[in-house]
Amino acid sequence: MADIDEQARQTLLDNDRGGYTIPTSGLYPFQWNWDSCFCALGWATFDEKRAWAEFESLYLHQWLDGMVPHIIFHEHVPTYFPGPEIWQVPLNIPTSGITQPPVAASKVRELYETVKDKEYAEKKIRQLLPKLYSFNHWFHLQRDPNNEGLVSIYHPWESGRDNSADWDAALNRVPVEDLVPYQRRDTNHVDADQRPTTLEYDRYMAIVQFLRGNLYDHHTLHERVPFRIADVGINAILLRANLDLLWLMEKFDYEDDQAVRETRGWISLQEEAFDKLWDEEDQAYYSYDYITGEPIRAIGSATFLPLYAGVVAPKRAEILVRRIEEWTDEVNYLMPSLNPVDSRFEAKRYWRGPVWAVVNSLIFKGLEETGHGHLADRVALDTASLIKKSGFWEYFDPVTGDGLGGDCFSWTASMWLAWARHYLPDLKKKQA
Ligand code: GLC
Repeated sequence: MADIDEQARQTLLDNDRGGYTIPTSGLYPFQWNWDSCFCALGWATFDEKRAWAEFESLYLHQWLDGMVPHIIFHEHVPTYFPGPEIWQVPLNIPTSGITQPPVAASKVRELYETVKDKEYAEKKIRQLLPKLYSFNHWFHLQRDPNNEGLVSIYHPWESGRDNSADWDAALNRVPVEDLVPYQRRDTNHVDADQRPTTLEYDRYMAIVQFLRGNLYDHHTLHERVPFRIADVGINAILLRANLDLLWLMEKFDYEDDQAVRETRGWISLQEEAFDKLWDEEDQAYYSYDYITGEPIRAIGSATFLPLYAGVVAPKRAEILVRRIEEWTDEVNYLMPSLNPVDSRFEAKRYWRGPVWAVVNSLIFKGLEETGHGHLADRVALDTASLIKKSGFWEYFDPVTGDGLGGDCFSWTASMWLAWARHYLPDLKKKQA
């Protein structure tokens, strides 16, 4: 254990680039939005000041309209694709032009609850609050302009679950006729069979080309973007982030009453709207495709994130829990990113089967808070066992437990330090 702890800390130290943490060298050599938020929790286990610095560096690159970009290209790394020359965002330190799941407010709250130095934490939170609010505000304003309570994503990468089966049909409709030729680089670092396919990648690049061609102007994009989806995952994460933002605002007597009122308003709107994502026939939450006006009938790890948002009535929660229990007959490690009996399930391909430690940490919280502690513990134990057996990999095969994708991965090391390690039986016994 001590050894693994030490390796986890060393992974963060090795991936530290001075105030921000890269996910892993080679494959992802910059700062990623939601990765940074999870990394802060790992840092906090041995360096609280460094943990707060992670949020500061991320929010230093927030756009003027409030968006926190999904990648910040702090350095010039010619081996990465698609880099700043593709996104063409005119900033001194360039960024991508899309965002990622807004876990920030929730992770700031979690950080506050775990750190020892509350005084320092309070100082940092007071500085961060207007920024956290403005990111969530951006989501509601730009991605839900009609105030329906469900925000949309314009690119699969915004969901954080890049090649999830959820996006298949919608991606297939993205036109690629005008796609400028490009050369991907991810498969130089990782086996192609663990990464998205070429067909998928063409569509990713076609959307990027479209966003860039429209200068990231959200009014135009909302009307014309070829991919517009109310992702159940991002909506659950945003609702939870609003709840945690409100908690922080109340705790620290946030002086902007209008912002506090607005946050309360988003929460009630979202809680009501979430019901629209529930499919009575299939008894599951589905993402919704705004372009076709149809639900996306795929069940994966995001299906369970509404538990984390606290919007699931007990009866529905039971149905979700039963589904997870059924999956334990199909795989050895929870949570596979796609239903293991879905014909598209691939145990080793990225978001089409593998287990991701960070998603597990969110589902764990949802299960625990809805009174399903037993299953929550199983999710935590599986995460810890995967890491103990294979190391700090980007993702894991849910059947064999093999580590996949990038190695020495920061958010996996952080989830070990801040969460999963505490659920290994020997440690639990010691704590009892
Ligand atoms: C991949 C993942 C995304 C993550 C990024 C960096 O693109 O799909 O969720 O943020 O890698 O780790």
